[in-house]
Amino acid sequence: MSQEVMWVEKYRPLKLSELLDQGDIVERLNGLLKKPEDMPHLLFAGPPGTGKTTTAICLAKQLMGDIWRNYTLELNASDERGIDVVRERIKTFTMFADRVQGIPFRLIILDEGDEMTSSAQTALRRIMEESSAHSRFIIIANYSSSIIEPIQSRCAIFRFKKIEKADMVKRLEFICKNEDAKYDVAALGLIYELSGGDLRLAINQLQAAAAVGEVSTENVRSISGISRTKEIRELSKLALDGDFKKSHELLTRLMMVYGVPEDDILKYMYAEAMTVADVDKAKLAKIFAEYDLRLVRGAHPDIQLSALLAELPSAKVKEDGSG
Ligand SMILES: Nc1ncnc2c1ncn2[C@@H]1O[C@H](COP(=O)(O)OP(=O)(O)OP(=O)(O)O)[C@@H](O)[C@H]1O
Ligand SMILES: [Mg+2]
Repeated sequence: MSQEVMWVEKYRPLKLSELLDQGDIVERLNGLLKKPEDMPHLLFAGPPGTGKTTTAICLAKQLMGDIWRNYTLELNASDERGIDVVRERIKTFTMFADRVQGIPFRLIILDEGDEMTSSAQTALRRIMEESSAHSRFIIIANYSSSIIEPIQSRCAIFRFKKIEKADMVKRLEFICKNEDAKYDVAALGLIYELSGGDLRLAINQLQAAAAVGEVSTENVRSISGISRTKEIRELSKLALDGDFKKSHELLTRLMMVYGVPEDDILKYMYAEAMTVADVDKAKLAKIFAEYDLRLVRGAHPDIQLSALLAELPSAKVKEDGSG
């Protein structure tokens, strides 16, 4: 099994028809492909890893065939060099309005459009007007609401959906078979839970788990440690702030869904809580030591950790400075 190739790239759809879960969008785009010269500017909005960039590239290929690269400009709107660079590049690119057989217009794919300030977007709107005779824009963003209204109203809006569980698991299974990676279906389900419908994240997790040896729930749990750290930080914060209900929900999720071992939760929560400014650290140490001991003695982990959440606010330093 080759680990040099990124699976997200290797398994990126090459045609619109290969996209998962974006049926409505594919249908509408196929409609536009029948009469490309009538195609409006497009705005692709939706959560990460659902196929927005892939769709833009598939569309370019299907519009222009093999020479699509010559007539497509891919830009990142979050380019730190700013809108002036973007404007210059678009101007140069659209300057030669050559009519090439089979090329309906030049295409500008502007990714991460929501990274642009509204004044940059206002500039972009003017660029779109200046160059629209022989070019079309595809603007990509996570939220359409972060694109200014005058641009939105010039675009046909396409809303991408999160990838559904059954389709994601099927896709992951297909990749495993193709890569000769050992896997179990429960681990694929866990990857889905962790991904929140983001297929890029899911495929990356899959590859990381396979690289460790096999796609087992144990390996998936251990490689997803980064997101766990973030959630445990959140857990400490909620508990110290006295929000028992929310912290308890999160604890349950960490233990039941992600299967984080209780001693890990205790250890990481301790490390996190000790970095909080307004806590009595001595008191905190005593509380954690007590629960640590109870767990070692074999007390019920979920009951003990729930009690810990309930007790933590008492380690917070009150406004008047008392402990
Ligand atoms: N709908 C989909 N069908 C098949 N594969 C997909 C789909 N969405 C994402 N993927 C996989 O995830 C990878 C990333 O997809 P893509 O770059 O198109 O996501 P995106 O929506 O542009 O995300 P971001 O908002 O983070 O840029 C692709 O290379 C592909 O492997
Ligand atoms: Mg993208």
